[in-house]
Amino acid sequence: MTEPLRDDDDHLLSRRAQALAAEPGPIEGRDHFDGDQLDREERSALRRVSGLSTELEDITEVEYRQLRLEKVVLAAVWSHGTAEEAENSLRELAALAETAGSEVLAGVLQRRPNPDPGTYLGSGKALELRDIVLAEGADTVVCDSELAPSQRRALEDVVKVKVIDRTALILDIFAQHAKSREGKAQVELAQLQYLLPRLRGWGESMSRQAGGQAAGGQGMGSRGPGETKIELDRRRINSRIAKLKRELSGMKTHRDTRRSARANRGVPAVAIAGYTNAGKSTLLNRLTHAGVLVDNQLFATLDTTVRRTETPDGREYTLTDTVGFVRALPHQLVEAFRSTLEEVADADLLLHVVDASHPDPESQISAVRAVLADVDATDVKEVVVLNKADLADPEVIARVLREEKYSIAVSARTGEGVDELLELIARELPRPQIDVEVLLPYDRGDLVSRLHEEGEILREEHVAEGTRLRARVMPNLAAELEPFEGTLAR
Ligand code: GTP
Repeated sequence: MTEPLRDDDDHLLSRRAQALAAEPGPIEGRDHFDGDQLDREERSALRRVSGLSTELEDITEVEYRQLRLEKVVLAAVWSHGTAEEAENSLRELAALAETAGSEVLAGVLQRRPNPDPGTYLGSGKALELRDIVLAEGADTVVCDSELAPSQRRALEDVVKVKVIDRTALILDIFAQHAKSREGKAQVELAQLQYLLPRLRGWGESMSRQAGGQAAGGQGMGSRGPGETKIELDRRRINSRIAKLKRELSGMKTHRDTRRSARANRGVPAVAIAGYTNAGKSTLLNRLTHAGVLVDNQLFATLDTTVRRTETPDGREYTLTDTVGFVRALPHQLVEAFRSTLEEVADADLLLHVVDASHPDPESQISAVRAVLADVDATDVKEVVVLNKADLADPEVIARVLREEKYSIAVSARTGEGVDELLELIARELPRPQIDVEVLLPYDRGDLVSRLHEEGEILREEHVAEGTRLRARVMPNLAAELEPFEGTLAR
C-alpha cells in the first residue's frame, strides 16, 4: 500500500510550523488517500514539470551536494510501530526538509516488513513514486532512513531525479546553520565522509538510462567516462578530509584550553541538551537573559553557547547550550560533534530539555539518551526539564513527571516554573567545601573578587593590612589562597 500524503489532504506535510506543532491524532483525510487520484491529476495538470534539468548535467556528487533542494517528495517505508509513529516520523522528515529550505510537495509511505534491498521502496512502488515526482514537478526525493549507496543509485535510476536520505538532509541543514569556524569544519568533514563511498558520476548514470548500453551496472559495462572524474574527486576529497582533520585537532586544543581554564577557576558548569526544537535556546535566554538566537527552526543552534550567570545566593556558574539532537543523528555527525558534546560530559549538571507538547516526548527522551551514551555523558546528573508546559497536555506532563524521577515542568515562554528550576540548579551545583581564613593585602583585589564570585563569604572585615575573609571555596581557589595563610581544610 502506498499512501500519498499531500499537503492539501492533511495540511501537515508541507508546513513546517504545523509539522512542529504536530498535533497528535490521525492525519486528516487518511481514509481517502487512494480515492482522490483524479484530484491529484487535476492539480498536477496545472503544475509545471520542473527541476528535471539537473539530471542531464554531467556533474559529480561534489557539486551535487551543493545544489539546493527545492521541490521534494518524501518517501518512507513503514515496517514497524503504529501508523501514528510512522506518520510522526514522516512529519519530522517534512519539518527537516523545510528547515533545509525545500518545499514539500508530497509524501508517500509504504507498508512493508523491510525496505527493499534494491530500491528501498518495492520496485512497483518505486515506479509509482516516479509518477508522483513527475506529476508534482519535484526535483528531489528524500527517503526517511539512511540508504545504502547501491539502494540510492537504484532508486535514482528509477525516479530519475536525485535521491537523498535523511542523513544527507541533516548534514545539509547542519551545513547551513554552522556559524563558527570549528562548526563549519566539523560539518564539512562529516559531509565529505558521508560522500566518499557514495560518489557517482551523474552524467554516466543518466546516459546509462538514456542509452541503455552500459546497463549492466557492475563490471566492465559500468566503466564510463565518468570514472576518471570520480577518481579525481575521490583524491580531492581525501586530501580535503586530511586537511580538515588537522585543522580541527588544532581547534580542539584551543577549546580544551579554554575549558580547562574555566574548570580551574572552579566555576561549576550546567549543560543544556535536548531534542531539536525542544526550546533549549529559549530556556537559556530565560535563565540568563542572554541574546541567543531563538528560531522555530530545527537546529537553529549548532555551535555551543556559553553564558555566565549566578545562583540566587550569588554563586557563579556557566550555562552551555548545545547542538540539538535528533532521532538517528547521522553517525558522521555524532563523530563530528563529539567534541562539542563533550561539554555535556564535563558538566556538573545536565538540563535535558524536552518538548512536552510533542506527540511522543518519551521517544525524544530516549533518542537524546542514546546520543549521550554515545559520547559517554551518562555519568552527569540529569534533570528532565519538561518545557512548553503552556502548550502541552497536562496529562502528558503528569505522565512524564511520574516516569522521570528527577524532572520539572516549565515554560520557557511564559516563565512558569523557571524560578523553581533556578532553585533546583542552585541546590544541585557543587558547593564550595573548603573553609579558608585569609588576610588579603589591598593590592590583591583580584583574589577578593574571585572569593566573592566563586566562594561563599562567611565573614568579611577591613583591617589596616588588607581584607580579612572567612569563606568556603573550591579546592583550586583554596590552593591559590594558601600563601595568605590559615587554610582550614574540613
Ligand atoms: P535547536 O536549535 O533546533 O536545537 O532548538 P532549541 O531546542 O534551541 O529550540 P528554540 O529555543 O529555538 O525553540 C524552538 C521553538 O519553540 C521556538 O519557536 C520557541 O519560541 C518555541 N518555544 C520554546 N519554549 C517554549 C515554551 O515554553 N512554550 C511555547 N509555547 N513555545 C516555546
